[in-house]
Amino acid sequence: MDKRLQTFISEKAPIIDAELNHLIEFEKAPSSLKESMLYSVNAGGKRIRPLLVLAVLDDFDTKSDDALKVACAVELIHTYSLIHDDLPCMDDDDFRRGKPTNHRVYGEATAVLAGDALQTRAFGILASLEQTRPEQIIRLVALLADASGANGMVGGQILDMEGETATLSLPELEEVHMHKTGALLSFCIEAGAILSDAQEEELSQLRKYAKNIGLAFQIKDDILDVTSTTEQLGKTANSDTASEKSTYPSLLGLEGAQQQLEKYHREAVECLAFLKKENSMLKLFADYIVQRNA
Ligand code: IPE
Ligand code: IPE
Ligand code: MG
Ligand code: MG
Ligand code: MG
Repeated sequence: MDKRLQTFISEKAPIIDAELNHLIEFEKAPSSLKESMLYSVNAGGKRIRPLLVLAVLDDFDTKSDDALKVACAVELIHTYSLIHDDLPCMDDDDFRRGKPTNHRVYGEATAVLAGDALQTRAFGILASLEQTRPEQIIRLVALLADASGANGMVGGQILDMEGETATLSLPELEEVHMHKTGALLSFCIEAGAILSDAQEEELSQLRKYAKNIGLAFQIKDDILDVTSTTEQLGKTANSDTASEKSTYPSLLGLEGAQQQLEKYHREAVECLAFLKKENSMLKLFADYIVQRNA
């Protein structure tokens, strides 16, 4: 991994972890629910989404006291999506982030409810931002709702399930990826841009960047599902093959999937020209997304 990116991640990740724990300290919540929420939040995710929010601010050389909270809000949505994604009625997976999945430890009902509570907390966090202008808060709440819901991640999850019984075409598969994975990643980039007061033309380039890394991220996830081991991934390898999911490797073969991955990476990086930085943090994240091993 690039040194500058490594330093960025090792500086920011512990701050994100501490804030996440702080943000879900509920005084009155039942302890079983709290335990289940904390279990998944602290199971050791890569924190790509919160890091991306902070990376945008780094590239714009801006500061926002609320950026960390926004970054954590999206990580809570992501964690909830993973808890539900692993349920027996969905991908039926036993391992996540190197540990047994939430429902394997706490049971399905608690896992569903922990996901629900993480989701609502994310919106509570955005609504309580103190250093951000009210019109920006409203924009962030609306964007996160759209990215998480029927127009975004949840919509993509349904399409993904439907792809188990049908062979999707490449455009259909792209649609699944853009929704189930791309939408939340796009939120991260756009939220960082809003907090940085980016201009409309900058925002439009960043949206294109986000669309490309969203696709690249899920193609890489699909490739790793077939090329990596459960130990390396911290989640069950060959899960997509077992459920006969439509994926880039199943449709195009590994080499074809790799070519698509490289295409989206190239297109993402091209969108960053306006930053006039040789190795912007967002460029380093695009590189990392395609090179990662887990
Ligand atoms: C996994 O996301 C789910 C997808 C959208 C492909 P990550 O690979 O970011 O998972 P964690 O957060 O590191 O566990
Ligand atoms: C999940 O995609 C995307 C989500 C919205 C959670 P996958 O089902 O491919 O994610 P993994 O491989 O289980 O992490
Ligand atoms: Mg899934
Ligand atoms: Mg899954
Ligand atoms: Mg996967």
